[in-house]
Amino acid sequence: MRMTLLQNKRVLLGVTGGIAAYKSADLVRRLKDQGADVRVVMTAGAQSFVTPLTFQAVSGNPVHTDLLDPDAEAGMGHIELAKWADVILVAPASANFLARLAYGFADDLLTTLCLATSAPIVVAPAMNQQMWQSEATRENCRTLQDRGVLQLGPAKGDQACGDVGYGRMLEPLEIVDGLAGVFKSGDLQGIKVLITAGPTQEAMDPVRYITNHSSGKMGYAVAQAAVEAGADVTLVSGPVSLTTPAGVKRVDIVSAKDLAEAVMNHVEDCQIFISAAAVADYYCADIADQKIKKSGDGMTLTLKKTQDVLASVAALSKPPFTVGFAAETEKLEKHAKDKLERKALDMIAANRVDDPELGFHSDENALHVFWQKGDQELPRASKQKLARELIKLISKRYKKKK
Ligand code: PMT
Repeated sequence: MRMTLLQNKRVLLGVTGGIAAYKSADLVRRLKDQGADVRVVMTAGAQSFVTPLTFQAVSGNPVHTDLLDPDAEAGMGHIELAKWADVILVAPASANFLARLAYGFADDLLTTLCLATSAPIVVAPAMNQQMWQSEATRENCRTLQDRGVLQLGPAKGDQACGDVGYGRMLEPLEIVDGLAGVFKSGDLQGIKVLITAGPTQEAMDPVRYITNHSSGKMGYAVAQAAVEAGADVTLVSGPVSLTTPAGVKRVDIVSAKDLAEAVMNHVEDCQIFISAAAVADYYCADIADQKIKKSGDGMTLTLKKTQDVLASVAALSKPPFTVGFAAETEKLEKHAKDKLERKALDMIAANRVDDPELGFHSDENALHVFWQKGDQELPRASKQKLARELIKLISKRYKKKK
């Protein structure tokens, strides 16, 4: 399966009162087809048209309906939900909801979430054509657009009330297409980016190897964010069980030696190199031809240093903008700054790998990014969200350096 722009995106779908609410159940399925993780919030009006049970069944998640529901708050409270979302999509968005959003109401769960989120907000209006044309609705839409709220539709056509005109909610697939556009930026349009991700495996014999806990999630999220920013992305990947982001060229490797070869083969014409792979620092000097048999109480392996690929890239005569990662269990800032200097990097993204909820394998991470004379903390968030912020930062520093 190939990844789409909505793969792994956390979509908070707000459903407000209108006959088009029945189409939103199909919208949830279309979003899930694209790999999105969907949570649904329904207003009281929406529940007059469709039951929460329908959305629970299609989304596979509990549906949120009340601002002050102690059970829901004990699970994922409204502030957590607002932070969880990569995007809030309100479909259908009624005239009443648009007005309340424009005026900053926070008297139900959905409007409160919209105020409490830093994620982009997208609305798919649906209402009677006369209500759509009314000066009040026009002005509310202008206010929302000025604030950066993206509006998808409405379409023109026959309406449930018998009228004909603009006011129909877009079809679910059209909304999915429009929503994917939120994650596209032109920050790295036409730029060639080489990224490494995942672990390496260093063979001891035909059946055993030395490796680490990297799942590849961070590097793959960076690759996806780079594609969304318009880059031409090649991903050198260690053995992982992740799907390749749409539009990414993937080169599979196993060992640190393979990774070094693949990077050196592709680095020449790239402008940015991002090294998120957890590359082995040592490999087995003698790989046994046959399975090593158990003998005695202990055994000794002779290990040799691998090539430091990141440092080699930075040392090229015409190096790309070179970004390393630093995986640390202590003294994060000190070790990261030391690697930035020692390997002559343009930037380094440091993360802690001693917390089971962050770093290796987890869905979330937190980064502290350093460059010469500057740094920025990217607080705990999903790896997708962090990757987008990291790519924005890289693009800014890359353009500044040029
Ligand atoms: O894959 P996940 O489960 O999502 O976890 C993400 C991650 C923790 C692996 C990732 O965020 C991360 O920190 N990647 C770098 C891991 C690492 O090897 O860090 P390091 O501090 O040991 O190495 C510093 C840098 O040198 C890294 O950019 C590394 O890719 C590079 N390196 C290291 C050794 C080597 N022989 N060649 C290299 O290029």
